[in-house]
Amino acid sequence: MSAMLLSLPMPAEVRFGRGSIEGLLPLCESFGKKGFLVHGASIKKSGKLASVLSHGKSQPALWEHEGGEPTLTQTTALRGYIREVAPDWVIALGGGSVLDLTRAAAGLAKAPGSVLDYHDGAEIPEATIPFIAVPTTAGTGSEATTVSVLTNTATSVKKSIRHPSFMARLVILDPELLESCPVSVLAASGMDALTQALEAYCSRGATALTDSLAFSAAEKLYAALPAACEGDNAALDDLLLGCYMAGVALATARLGLVHGLAHPLGARYEAAHGLVCAFCLPPVLAFNRSAIPEKYGKMEQLFGEDPLVAVETLIQRLKLESPFRGKKLENKEAIIEESLASGSTKANPREVSREDVVTILKTLFA
Ligand SMILES: [Fe+2]
Repeated sequence: MSAMLLSLPMPAEVRFGRGSIEGLLPLCESFGKKGFLVHGASIKKSGKLASVLSHGKSQPALWEHEGGEPTLTQTTALRGYIREVAPDWVIALGGGSVLDLTRAAAGLAKAPGSVLDYHDGAEIPEATIPFIAVPTTAGTGSEATTVSVLTNTATSVKKSIRHPSFMARLVILDPELLESCPVSVLAASGMDALTQALEAYCSRGATALTDSLAFSAAEKLYAALPAACEGDNAALDDLLLGCYMAGVALATARLGLVHGLAHPLGARYEAAHGLVCAFCLPPVLAFNRSAIPEKYGKMEQLFGEDPLVAVETLIQRLKLESPFRGKKLENKEAIIEESLASGSTKANPREVSREDVVTILKTLFA
């Protein structure tokens, strides 16, 4: 007999609320004296980094992420500096890219192999340095997972590495950190979060617990995303919370074909991950409908209309533009192969064939 797994891996401690960022360094100091903090450019520019640092007794070593989605080269460089500093704890303060980059670099700090070895599938040893995640965008839900998505720029292969010990020991969710986030980033990353909530809900790996988290996350995100993008700062609370809840759900339930397509496409087309997800979502929603009619009925209640129509209307309301429309589909065979091999695609509720991927790619590049 098979039993449904109802345990949910999640960070040991999660603090949510406006102003909660002030407690970051004091809380981290309980892990040891020597700290390390990785951040993005915008948090420094906004002056918030200086404010965060002003609350600590001692100053952590700093590393500024040069930007873009994390690559193996960036991970190797950061890992080298973490090894040099030998900190007692490592904070990632930034968007999904900063979180994924830092988790991988800190998680592999004491691992003997190269970052490439582990990206190619070598067994990852237990990570021992406490990892602390503080998201400044609401998108990937990376703060709730044990996964880092990294790109090998030499081969254009974008895939994830993961280990249970990569889970954050502490997460701070402070909606005020999102206030300086540009609307275009808020919209694209919010679409990633909504896609993740819906894919986790529809996934083959869904359980009763992940369903309740994913459904409630989708409800919050669907209401909060347009409001937040139209200037309602109060909506940032639900955006950040919904994103985290979707992250907890997907860490167990996994995702689906949207994310199976998003990695090979994202590695080859210059576009934000959330934007790629947003435009892959409608054709995948149409494709999966026949496999899980009951869940589509529940999503229809959530959206107040057909889920496919609701998502298309939301994309228009957020004024998102397709990163594929009118472009030429290049490396088609590799994209198809990588999409089919993806763990996300394997969790998709409907079996996916080569022809199905070809049909969806045709729609995307029409
Ligand atoms: Fe995603």
